[in-house]
Amino acid sequence: MKLSLTVLVLAALPAMQALAQSTPIEVYKTNGCGCCLSWMDHLKENGFAPSGEDMFGGLLVRFKLDKGVPQRMISCHTAIVDGFVIEGHVPASDVQRLLEERPDAIGLAVPGMPYGSPGMGPEEEREAYDVFLIRKDGSTEVFSSYSSN
Ligand code: CU
Ligand code: CU
Repeated sequence: MKLSLTVLVLAALPAMQALAQSTPIEVYKTNGCGCCLSWMDHLKENGFAPSGEDMFGGLLVRFKLDKGVPQRMISCHTAIVDGFVIEGHVPASDVQRLLEERPDAIGLAVPGMPYGSPGMGPEEEREAYDVFLIRKDGSTEVFSSYSSN
């Protein structure tokens, strides 16, 4: 009896730790960007601890390019998590997968602001969009795809 309880507690530990620790993520955005705040809420609900940093538009664009986001991948906000760059309304599950797989890459991007992506309106009315992996040479490839609903 004593042994099986110990086994149970040990088995539950990783899950408990995952719940207790939220992954910090810094979100660079413009002041008054509502969809940026909605995306941060989506992160909060999915195990992240986002903090927002407001920048002026021109400086934010320069920041994106400096961080290695190609111009064609640009969206509203740019986030930094554990050394990776997250551009736009990337679903939290893709960010989690990135942090697990840790590819040799700059990060992820959802260019533009697709309707129904996290923070961009109801998922039931989602338009199709792709999440791109940004390689260090500036090339991109599809990381995951979401069909329209
Ligand atoms: Cu947005
Ligand atoms: Cu945004």
